[in-house]
Amino acid sequence: MTVAQELDQLLAEALAALAQARSAAELEQLRVRFLGRKSRLAEVMKTLPALPAEERAAVGKRGNQLKAALEARLAAARETLAADTAREPLDVTLPGAAIPQGWLHPVTQTIEAVLSLFIPMGFEVVEGPELELERYNFDALNIPRDHPSRESFDTFFVEASSPEPKKGRLLLRSHTSPVQVRVMERRKPPLRIVVPGVVYRPDPLDPSHSFMFHQVEGLMVDDRTSFADLKGALDLFLKTLFGPRTKTRFRPHFFPFTEPSAEVDIACASCGGRGCPTCGKKGWLEIMGCGMVHPNVFKAVGYDPRAVQGFAFGLGVERIAMLRHGITDIRLFFENDLRFLEQC
Ligand code: PHE
Repeated sequence: MTVAQELDQLLAEALAALAQARSAAELEQLRVRFLGRKSRLAEVMKTLPALPAEERAAVGKRGNQLKAALEARLAAARETLAADTAREPLDVTLPGAAIPQGWLHPVTQTIEAVLSLFIPMGFEVVEGPELELERYNFDALNIPRDHPSRESFDTFFVEASSPEPKKGRLLLRSHTSPVQVRVMERRKPPLRIVVPGVVYRPDPLDPSHSFMFHQVEGLMVDDRTSFADLKGALDLFLKTLFGPRTKTRFRPHFFPFTEPSAEVDIACASCGGRGCPTCGKKGWLEIMGCGMVHPNVFKAVGYDPRAVQGFAFGLGVERIAMLRHGITDIRLFFENDLRFLEQC
């Protein structure tokens, strides 16, 4: 057997032995046996200078390869061993890892709370498109083009050709009221609907403004619906949502699509109406807009304004969620920071 063949055999033998080794001590023994100062490899390397030139090169090369291969394998074996010892033994009595539970977003929770109070009063949940036609967002709601009341609704117009040019330009709806029109156009009274949805307004972001937020719209139409019905329904709604002792106030206001119109306030729960930073020292918090459906809106959808009466209301969901949870910055709803969401 030549020296080179002997080295090959040695490598095979060493690898086989390494594969069996089960402890750091065994690995060390193998290192000494195959690579140590008294190993066969060391002996062979010592004889190198005495060998004839061609053989010296071949044997030297084989020897170095063997050394490198064994060292690499030893290092790998040590690492595997260390990882195995680091791993704790399995304790089957430990409780399992908790799977984090999901939550509904506070905006969704609030929408569900609002809807669940109107559904028992006979209201049906309806939705409409966020990309809306000018006719539904404005014209049919008694907000003609060039009328100053449009100014109170800053709007994102969309630069795309409208599928129905006669109904005007396309826009991102600035309120959920267009769904009133869409539903009345399709159906005959009596009607009771609530409409949750996203609306858009080009407001600069600040703690109480966002260019996208949610509203819930309500509409009731029947042959005889009065302002007293409106007051009764909203008063009951707000007392159920904010507590039975909640005081409500209907303050005259203007909306183009309702007449008469009102804004609804609740007495500030933080100060009991005395005035504090939450209510801006007013003692009251504005909660929603409402009114009796304007005859022009009924005309626009083909109803006879002498034969039907109706009320409508619209509320801002984030505002209600902020009051319910004591949140002071609307932007928190849209940042999706789990530390915030987990608290709601
Ligand atoms: N659409 C109104 C707004 O966004 C709210 C409203 C709805 C007022 C229905 C009256 C009746 O401000």
